[in-house]
Amino acid sequence: MSSFDRNWRELQLETLVDLSLTIGRVRPEEELADELLQRAVGTLDAGSGLVATLHPGGQEAIVRALGMAPSFEAVRAFFPDDLLEELAAGRYVRAQREVGDAPFELLVAPLRAGREVLGAVVLGDKETRVGRIPFSDSDARFLLALASMVGTAVASSRQVAAIERDRQRLADENRELRDVARREGFIGEAPVVREMLETVRRVAPTGVNVMLRGESGVGKERVARLLHSFSDRSSKPFVPLNCAALPESLLEAELFGIEAGVATGVQRRLGKIELANGGTLFLDEVGDLTPGLQAKLLRLVQEREFERLGGRERIPVDLHLVTATNRDLEAMIDSGGFRRDLYYRLRVVVIAVAPLRERRTDIPLLARHFLEVYGDRFGRPGVKLSRDALAALMAFDFPGNVRELENLVQAAIALAPGDVITEEDLRLHTGRVAAAPSDATVSLAELERQHIERVLRSVGGNRAAAARVLGIDRSTLYRKMMRDAPSDATRNTAHEPT
Ligand SMILES: Nc1ncnc2c1ncn2[C@@H]1O[C@H](COP(=O)(O)OP(=O)(O)OP(=O)(O)O)[C@@H](O)[C@H]1O
Ligand SMILES: [Mg+2]
Repeated sequence: MSSFDRNWRELQLETLVDLSLTIGRVRPEEELADELLQRAVGTLDAGSGLVATLHPGGQEAIVRALGMAPSFEAVRAFFPDDLLEELAAGRYVRAQREVGDAPFELLVAPLRAGREVLGAVVLGDKETRVGRIPFSDSDARFLLALASMVGTAVASSRQVAAIERDRQRLADENRELRDVARREGFIGEAPVVREMLETVRRVAPTGVNVMLRGESGVGKERVARLLHSFSDRSSKPFVPLNCAALPESLLEAELFGIEAGVATGVQRRLGKIELANGGTLFLDEVGDLTPGLQAKLLRLVQEREFERLGGRERIPVDLHLVTATNRDLEAMIDSGGFRRDLYYRLRVVVIAVAPLRERRTDIPLLARHFLEVYGDRFGRPGVKLSRDALAALMAFDFPGNVRELENLVQAAIALAPGDVITEEDLRLHTGRVAAAPSDATVSLAELERQHIERVLRSVGGNRAAAARVLGIDRSTLYRKMMRDAPSDATRNTAHEPT
């Protein structure tokens, strides 16, 4: 081997080593094509060169050329039809052409990933001090090695690009999903929430019976509304009914409706089932249904028809049934409190709504949302949380979940003297409420009475505001106040003689 050849070999080896050191880094396909072209032309002293990569269908992706027309088609035209087959087999190809009088040689090597040809590198005639000479076999093997390294790199670059595209598409979908949910008044971006929204979106159009599980105040009714708005029935009614709010006979009438003339003077009244026809019926606290109503509901679910109270006509209905409970239905089934057959029909898909303490990153978003909503409603727009107040909320466990956060924010807006809610304004209702019983002999009823009084005082006697703070409706508050009033009187008189 001449010293010239030795230097030559050394240069080729160095080029390969050099490339192997940088090739692991993911780079754009254009950059890889450029690098291959420059290294191949430079190391092999080619008079011209071209690198082209192909899309899976065979279309040109990138073409880079030096001293040659940048078209893969033109180059391919020099070769017999079996060019691609040879390249796919991982072999290099030589082609001789007459250009004018002189023979013109092209050397082609494939860029491959496995057996797939991702492109080719083409070199034209070697230019040396002694003029144009053909490429040697060792030149060809070098080119093959160079191209094979770059082929692998192009494949991983494409894979990374595909993953990035997927990620982008998912992010877009996620954003869209979140925006739709937000328009429906559902706030949340924590991973568990995103996952749940994805399930909601997939399940909603299918119309299968969905059961929502989760602690009180986590937002089960909100999710039920989302199921409705993501379904193809969103223009039809969403009808919620709380099964725990009414005694059996009233609940039955509320659900099934009443036929005219059941008793004197009774007019026909449509039940929630009929009102929800074509839309979604949401039965909250479904675990509170009595055995009688469970049986009737089972018939509705199985036969998709029902009768009004006192009626004989079987009325067909078409509705999505969404149920919710925070009770342990499985234990109730074991103890005979809930029908197993109904249970399986209601829980075709179960969606668990996570407690707020398991998605703390949503606390600031929800707090800001409620600040906006109630700030506007109470004529206090622009009211904000101090940093400490937010930190206190982030650290709080929220046994009452989102509802509790909502109530806290409302109360704080009502209580805060300025536009910034401090930790003090909040603490009144977080730590202190639970820590209130200084006298361990106080009964629950008494404690409730004291707490109602305290809240009433804190909102300046405004009963609507007090009801909101307490998380009960106004009529419940009145009832509790009415109950307390006479008992106060009796106690006072009873104590007078002593
Ligand atoms: N992700 C949320 N975004 C905005 N508001 C929410 C969200 N989740 C819950 N809320 C609000 O919190 C309150 C309680 O929610 P919801 O009534 O849906 O809870 P729930 O799980 O049905 O409670 P319960 O078990 O007591 O019936 C409602 O005022 C609701 O608007
Ligand atoms: Mg509810």
